[in-house]
Amino acid sequence: MTRNRQWIYARKPNAEVGPANFDLRETEAPQPRAGEVLVRTTLLSLDPASRAWMQGATYRSQLNPGDVMAGWGLGEVVESHAEKFAPGDLVSGEFGWQEYAALSAHRLTKHDKRHKPEHLLSVLGITGLTAYFGMLDVGRPRPGETVLVSAAAGAVGSVAGQIAKLSGCHVVGTTRGRDKCKWIVDEFGFDAAIDYSEGNLDRALKAACPRGIDVYFDNTGGEMLAAALRRMNVFGRVSCCGAVSQYDTASPAPGPFGVPGFLVTKRIRMEGFVVMDFYNRRAQAEAALARWLEEGKIKAAVDIVEGFENMPSALADMFAGKNRGKLMVRVG
Ligand SMILES: NC(=O)c1ccc[n+]([C@@H]2O[C@H](COP(=O)([O-])OP(=O)(O)OC[C@H]3O[C@@H](n4cnc5c(N)ncnc54)[C@H](OP(=O)(O)O)[C@@H]3O)[C@@H](O)[C@H]2O)c1
Repeated sequence: MTRNRQWIYARKPNAEVGPANFDLRETEAPQPRAGEVLVRTTLLSLDPASRAWMQGATYRSQLNPGDVMAGWGLGEVVESHAEKFAPGDLVSGEFGWQEYAALSAHRLTKHDKRHKPEHLLSVLGITGLTAYFGMLDVGRPRPGETVLVSAAAGAVGSVAGQIAKLSGCHVVGTTRGRDKCKWIVDEFGFDAAIDYSEGNLDRALKAACPRGIDVYFDNTGGEMLAAALRRMNVFGRVSCCGAVSQYDTASPAPGPFGVPGFLVTKRIRMEGFVVMDFYNRRAQAEAALARWLEEGKIKAAVDIVEGFENMPSALADMFAGKNRGKLMVRVG
């Protein structure tokens, strides 16, 4: 018998998510059926959206207490009943928060082992694709423009900012605390950083974006979105990637003042997207991201927490802003 530890989403959070919302369960590893593959998880991704799935339906159905917690992972095939996979293959998919998963072959992606596993779950995975398409296809930055990126020290934000720099833009990032501000400038080449926890966003944006904002890559929603709209230039673009400031609560704030007012008067295009919308073009984006990484034109920021038992606390830490870059847990 192979032991399979699972984190169960046990109790709906009334406010901030934490270990009290999860139970650790030990069961037997599942038996793969025809067309399925048994995978041993090696790395699990932590994502802000996990919290939103606990609250209600988003772009996917709501999770319910009793479900294995949902999440993306990377792992190794241990047994295959599907033609395209063999033991030892490196694969990713929605494994859930568990050590073993039996998944239908069509829900798995096989990876080239020349890449580092942690890069496959970050800059060369969903994180990188989100930054790539959200910045280039939705934001459409042009050389010389000013680009603002929120949650810029995080997984998507750090890559989105670097892509805007490669597009020849003046790039400003927002994050929490002076250390993280310094880090995004020194490590990723942001031109300026704003510590949003100091308040007075209008004054900070005016100083960091003296020529206004042409593209706002919005990871946070909330106050930052409201302040960015006030500073946007005519014909600006807001790429709505996520609203992390509104996930970790049972009562999200209403949308910002200025919609649709500023959109009309400033002719702003504000567009939401989900990375899966671009899935048929992922090979193009993966190739570009891998090339930039190899050439040293972008840097990967990976924050690895050791130990499957730390999944719930790592998720809570993400909302406290403790991660730098892509947060993931090494499962063993
Ligand atoms: N559209 C898509 O297809 C897609 C795909 C993936 C991710 N996303 C979205 O992209 C955004 C970033 O996700 P990620 O995976 O890259 O996570 P991440 O940025 O690595 O981690 C989340 C970060 O959000 C910040 N944060 C937490 N609470 C906040 C608050 N109340 N106000 C402002 N900032 C807060 C924290 O950084 P600070 O220290 O800076 O506060 C934290 O490090 C999320 O909104 C996510 O939902 C969208």
